[in-house]
Order: sequence, then structure tokens, then C-alpha cells
Amino acid sequence: MTSNAEYSYLCQEVWEHNKRYYIDNAPTISDYDYDRLLKRVEEIEQEHPDWTLPSSPTQRVGEMPSEGFATVKHVLPMLSLQNSYSEEELDDFIKRMEKLVGQKELRYFCELKVDGTAISVHYSKGTLTRAVTRGNGSEGDDITGNVKAIQSLPLQLVGTTLPNELEIRGEVFMPKASFEKLNQRREKEGQQLFANPRNAAAGSLKQLNPKVTAERDLAIAFYAVAHSAPTSLTKQSQASGYLQQLGLPSVYSCRLCRSKEEIITYIKEVSELRPSLPFEIDGIVIKIDDLALQKELGTTGKSPRWAVAYKFSPKQATTTVLDITVQVGRTGTLTPVAELDPILLAGSTISRATLHNEEEIRRKDIRISDSVTIEKGGDVIPKIVSVDLSKRKQDTSPWQMPKRCPSCDSVVVREEEEVAVRCPNAPSCPAQLHRRIAFFAGRYAFDIEHLGEKIVAQLIDTGLVKRLSDLFILTPEQLAQLEGFKEKSIHNLLKSIEQAKKTTLSRFILGLGIRHIGTETADLLAKHAGEIKALIDMDKETLIQIEGIGEKVAAAIVEHFQTPSNIKEIEALIDNGVQPIKEEFKHDRTHAFYGKTIVLTGTLQTISRQEATALIKQHGGKVSSSVSTNTHFVVAGDSPGSKLDKAKKLNLTILDEQQFKKTIGFDSHEK
Ligand code: IVH
Repeated sequence: MTSNAEYSYLCQEVWEHNKRYYIDNAPTISDYDYDRLLKRVEEIEQEHPDWTLPSSPTQRVGEMPSEGFATVKHVLPMLSLQNSYSEEELDDFIKRMEKLVGQKELRYFCELKVDGTAISVHYSKGTLTRAVTRGNGSEGDDITGNVKAIQSLPLQLVGTTLPNELEIRGEVFMPKASFEKLNQRREKEGQQLFANPRNAAAGSLKQLNPKVTAERDLAIAFYAVAHSAPTSLTKQSQASGYLQQLGLPSVYSCRLCRSKEEIITYIKEVSELRPSLPFEIDGIVIKIDDLALQKELGTTGKSPRWAVAYKFSPKQATTTVLDITVQVGRTGTLTPVAELDPILLAGSTISRATLHNEEEIRRKDIRISDSVTIEKGGDVIPKIVSVDLSKRKQDTSPWQMPKRCPSCDSVVVREEEEVAVRCPNAPSCPAQLHRRIAFFAGRYAFDIEHLGEKIVAQLIDTGLVKRLSDLFILTPEQLAQLEGFKEKSIHNLLKSIEQAKKTTLSRFILGLGIRHIGTETADLLAKHAGEIKALIDMDKETLIQIEGIGEKVAAAIVEHFQTPSNIKEIEALIDNGVQPIKEEFKHDRTHAFYGKTIVLTGTLQTISRQEATALIKQHGGKVSSSVSTNTHFVVAGDSPGSKLDKAKKLNLTILDEQQFKKTIGFDSHEK
């Protein structure tokens, strides 16, 4: 028997998870668990309709519009789908359809359910005029500026008969390869990782600065025409062809099915295809194919009657927490990590899972020796979803964050309004020093080849390096004392260190390891300051004047340069031969080709291959000869051949000669 109190508690729970998912982009439970929770709320409301709260999650569709964007009302509501997880639930859907339509053997169009974030895009006379998020279903955020940063989204439709007004619905997503690269970069920069490509896509779209969105490598696929479809479009199965004709990317690998058996075969095939797809899917969508029937069937309030999502259950496994250890990051943040009894999950052995912070552990009440369920859905990072309390051993106690740093034994501090606990001993904590040097030597900062994690540890353990600047006065004799170092390795390392002395100002700033400063902010600061001395002298007010620098970052910069040991360190770096030079920002980081891999195929008519290659490089791109999931753009000239076929299969962005020249600014370049 359910009590009214339990019902309101559940509603509250769902809202809390909604907020974590949509606003913080940091969910703490799986979609599966969320759906079960929501289903429970729905069941109670069916049993006790009079209990239904106006604020119940069933009365609203998911997401809430966020601050900072204009709110736009959708012409037609953006609904969400009913989820199903089993053949039985699928069977229920089919029976329901047959009963409602009064006909057997209906046709169902099945599509991949792309795991991203829903979007509605409007074209007027073929020109993109507006893009809006789902929001609460009836109104969403106007994110037109950000969406324009998506390279595969045409700003202008192609074709001879363009519709006057066209509103289409689709999903913005981040390809798996781009997601991994983004997280690798964020990890190096000490930024919080995105839990999965879906959160990364949603987070990237909600950036107030479209330049940040532009760097995130998002993609888009459309699946429906919401408004002003031509009369010739009578079936869902014709939609992707129609969209493609207009030059719009559409969801692919769809199939028209005539029975439950055919749908199940499709589900099985897609499950097998799933690991090799360049983007994440979280299930398939099954839709009545006949659009007139769809209209007739209508909606149930927040979902269409004529469609259902068949969601893949997340890949889960049960294991034991052997220990909870604490890692110390380069800025001193203590991160708890669960050391797990190694277990095979979705193709890889999992032995650790990050627990983020103390609050997260308390919320889930994870204790050493607990039996836990771990999950790896679309997520690259495995997480602990729940604890099996029935298996909890006696005499366990809640885990507590150590009061002292596990590396240097300093008393840790918790700053106001921060969940994180930090070791304040920045100058001499060995763990912080290790992370700082690894970051300093890393690809995005000083980029010192041959200085890997193991060598960093050796240099610290032997006391040869006590601060960053010590790296630049290492001698061959000192290195010769280290285990495994021979003439060649000594020469290689010293040569890389020597080469790293000449660096750009932004890499220099990044390498200092100031809290909250990643590559983007370091670039901004270098551009504005011009030289390190000028940056040191800037006060908080001056820093805040720079567009893109907020209070928190400005405070961290000022604090860093107010610490005498940090100034001494900069002086020592310069004394030891480091020369930060003001870079000429030849590469516009927001350019579509910056940091991207481009494949040229076929014959280009008005530009030579050499010239095209040089232009791509000038814009910070790389030219590759083969197409793979790591390719970002394929430029197709005449008679393109198999590379184009492969690009299409992988759903890559394909540019024709005209589009390529426009992107690269070739015409203006000629003048
Ligand atoms: S049809 C009435 N088809 O799944 C809703 N949705 O809750 C019609 N999605 O975020 C949705 N791939 O954006 C449909 N092939 C597909 C889809 C798809 C992904 C997303 C949709 C929304 C969620 C549905």
C-alpha cells in the first residue's frame, strides 16, 4: 500500500533527477532507473488520480528552459516517447495499435534512437531562421547562434522547390570519437568530465558563448517534418529521403517492418551494429509508418500514441568495493576513487570508478566492502549506480574524506560554497607536484616529448625536480642516475626540454596550472596581456573586463599571482631559459577546420589539391588520405570513388567544392 507521503517524495525525487540531468548535465542515476521511478509515479497516479500534484513530473515534459537564452514557444509541442525495455512491452504497443486502428499487420517504421538532445529547426524560404531546444515541451531555449556552429547543419537548403516554411525535428549529438577527445582534453586541463556524449552535446549547446559550441564538434540528424510537409509526404519512411533531398542530414539505418518478428530482428541487428556506429544510440524508435494514421492516433498528453522507444538496458555488473582511495589533483582537489574487484563489463575490465566527491558517496552511501552495481551505458566512464544493502556486511561505517592529504599529510580545507576538499600545500605536496609537472609537460601546455608519467615520478622521487623550473636545469649526469636511462634516452629528453623553452605565451600561462584555467582561457589571457608581466599586474577589475573571464576565474588568477612562491617560480622559469613569446594568432580556433581531420577525394575543379591542403593547414586543420571515424570532413570533388561511399556510411560531413571554398574563405583569399 502506497502512502500519499511516499507519492510526493517520489515526485520530488524525479524532479531532483530532472534537474541533475537537464540543468547540471550531471545525472546520478541511469536512464533505466529514472524511467522506473517515473513509471512508479504514473502507476500511483492511476491508482489514486486524486493525489496527482499539479507539479507532478507527469504533468510536464522533462527539461526546463534555462536562463540566458530567449524562450520560444513551439508551433507544435515537442513530445517525448513512451519507453519500453522488453519484448512484452513491445507486444503491448503493437496490440494497442492494432486495437486502436482496428486493423492487423500495420506497417511500422523503425529508426535508430540517436542519443543526444532534441532540437526543432525552422527554415524560412530555405534559410535557417531559428533553432530551439525541447525545453518543457511547449517552449524551449532559442539556441540559433549555437546551432549554427554545427558543421553538418546547412544554413541554406538546396533544391528547386524549397518549402516556404519548414519546421523539422531532430537530435543534436556528439560523435563517440569527438566525445573521447573532448574528455581527454578536459582531463588534461583538470576540468570536470562529461559523463556521456549526450551530456556533452547538451552542455555544449547550452554555452552562452557560441565559440565554445563551435569547438565541440557536434553533429545533427533529423527524423521528422513537424510543420509544412509537402502533401506528397504521406509516410514516415519517406521523410529521410525528403530531408536528404533538401540537403539535410537524416537518421540512417532505418527499416520498414510489418510484424513484431521483423521489429525484433531489426532490434537484434542494430544491437550488433551498435558498437561500430560512430555515435551513441540508446535504443530504437518504432513509429506507425502512415502519417495520416499518426495524426488520427494523436497524443496522450506528453507522448504520441503512434510511437514507442525500445530502449537498450544499460550494461551493468555487480562487484565489490575493495577500497576507497583518494587522488590528489594538480590544484590540490581530493577525488575519491572506488577500487573495485576487477570485473569484465562491455568488453573492458573495470577495476576503478570515480566517486566524484564526498557528497556523491554520502548520497549513494557507498562503503568499503559493499556489493555494488556498476554501469557502463553510453558512458565511457563506469559509474556505481547503486549499493545492494541486503548484502552489506555488519560493522561497516559511512566513508569519510580524510582530514589530511594522503600524499603530504597537510590538513585539508573545504572552501566556502565548494563541494571539493583541497590540500592547501601547493608548493611541496608530492602528489600535486606530480600532477602539475605531468600537466606542464603535457600536449596542451609545454608539450615536452619523452617526459611521461613514469619519468615524472622518478624525477620527483629522486628529488631532482622540486618545482617546474627545475626541469630546465637537468643535466645529463643527473639523468644518468635514473633507472633505465641510457645515452639515447638522456639525449632525447634533454633535447625535448630544450625545444620546449621556446613556447607561446598561452602555453606558458596554461602550464602554470592556475585553477580554472584551460586552453581557451589561457588563449584569451595571452591575447589580452601580450606578455606575462602585464598579466601578473592585472587586477580583478581589469580581468573581468575581458569577455569570457568571470569572477571566479579572475579571483583565481589574482590569487595565483599574489602568492610569492608562484612569482618566484615564473622568475626561475625565465632565468632557466624559458622564453614565452607572444603568438601571432594565425589559427582562428573557432574556424570549422581548426584541429580537424579532413580528407580530400575526387578532382577539384577550381583549386589544386596542394593549394587546398595548404589552406586547410593554414587554418589549423590536418589532411589525411583515408576516411575513418576520426575524419571530420570529406571534401568531394568530381569522380570521388570509394572514400565518399565510406564517408556516407559513417555519416560524416561531406563538403562539395563550393562549400569547401566557402568554409576556407578561398575567394577572399585570392583577392
Ligand atoms: S521521434 C514525439 N525518432 O528521443 C517524439 N525521436 O523522447 C518524436 N530521438 O529527445 C520523437 N532519435 O529527440 C524520434 N529516430 C528518432 C529519434 C528520436 C532520437 C530522441 C528525441 C527525443 C527522444 C524522445
